[in-house]
Amino acid sequence: MIAMFAVVLSAYLLGSVSGSLLVGRFRGVDIRTQGSGNAGGTNALRTQGWRFALGVVLVDVGKGMLAVWLAQRLFPADVAVAFGALYAAVVGHIWPVFHEFRGGKGAATLVGGLILLWPQALLPLLGVWLLCLTLTGYVGLSTILAAISLVLSAWWFAMPPVYWAFAAVGAVLLTYSHRSNLQRLRAGTENQFEKARVLGR
Ligand code: G3P
Repeated sequence: MIAMFAVVLSAYLLGSVSGSLLVGRFRGVDIRTQGSGNAGGTNALRTQGWRFALGVVLVDVGKGMLAVWLAQRLFPADVAVAFGALYAAVVGHIWPVFHEFRGGKGAATLVGGLILLWPQALLPLLGVWLLCLTLTGYVGLSTILAAISLVLSAWWFAMPPVYWAFAAVGAVLLTYSHRSNLQRLRAGTENQFEKARVLGR
């Protein structure tokens, strides 16, 4: 029990190391003061360009992978512990203890963990995300729908109950972390992906 708690706590601390705020320290910029104000890859791309954003995504995806890897090494037969560690890392990313509890939205970290924990779900997730992004240009909305696709994947792939439960938690958690995007969508002020502009930076 203590070992499980230690894994989850370590995953939370790992998740609290924010890619955008870490890379931003080297560049002397806090991206929470720019663009959408979100400490994540999308806002990094939007405000700092693709090199900065790539560094952000690598850190944020990597820490999700590391959290799951750690849990799988210590509790090889326990999927629930691995999911627990993954969501602890996602929670750390959203509410990071090292950055005044003001972090990002958790999507890249969730994807990082799923690479090791549930790779089957990634193809539909990516498909939904890309389709919605192509049709609407809204990254936030696309990410919410992609997170909800995890529940459909649990059904489609006839996964055990633990996957259903954690898929539902993921969908709720990411919808909640994207609540400002939903508010902006309702107000008609949500940022739309401007491919030509951001890739040209
Ligand atoms: O995962 C973050 C992304 O979905 C939305 O970011 O900056 O548009 O709020 P942003």
